[in-house]
Amino acid sequence: MWSLRKGKILAWLKCGAAIFAAVLFMAALRAHATSAQQVKQPWHAPASAKAVTNPVASSEAARKEGAELYQKNCVICHGAKGASNGPAAGSLPQKPANFTDVKMMNDATDGELFWKITTGRAPMPSWQDRLSERQRWELVIYLRDLARKGQYKYLGSATKS
Ligand code: HEC
Repeated sequence: MWSLRKGKILAWLKCGAAIFAAVLFMAALRAHATSAQQVKQPWHAPASAKAVTNPVASSEAARKEGAELYQKNCVICHGAKGASNGPAAGSLPQKPANFTDVKMMNDATDGELFWKITTGRAPMPSWQDRLSERQRWELVIYLRDLARKGQYKYLGSATKS
């Protein structure tokens, strides 16, 4: 009689341990998926934002303004020449975008760059409340200048240069 009961108790214990292990396993999986998502999920602008063209013509004045805004706000992470090597780049959980990356800059429309500057995605700040719309478009113009210095040719249709 005792041994029968002992057997039952043991069986329950084993069952409980198995459930506990399964719950732990699933929690670990979920934690892993979330952290992987934060790092690796590609960052896409909505199609409507991608299609927006730069309303600011790339005049000398706009380029100069863009360069100054970039020096003041972006160099710390993206680097003086946009090569993802600013003084703070090494301490970020993610590498800042490299504006001398020919493929990335050819693939990105002006509207997409503008949307990403506007929206941000940690650790990239949102500039919506810190810079005017015109300033953000001037920055897009300047990012194209940086990219050009990296031997690139924009193939999209949204630029005005
Ligand atoms: C605190 C560091 C930091 C600062 C300051 C910063 N960025 Fe970024 N930026 C990043 C990081 C990190 C990414 C990559 C974010 C990601 O992919 O999730 C990024 C991505 C971007 C992208 C997206 C490129 C692409 O096509 O995926 C653009 C555009 C950009 N930054 C422009 C700017 C501009 C313009 C400024 C200045 C007004 C600026 N950033 C200031 C860290 C920064």
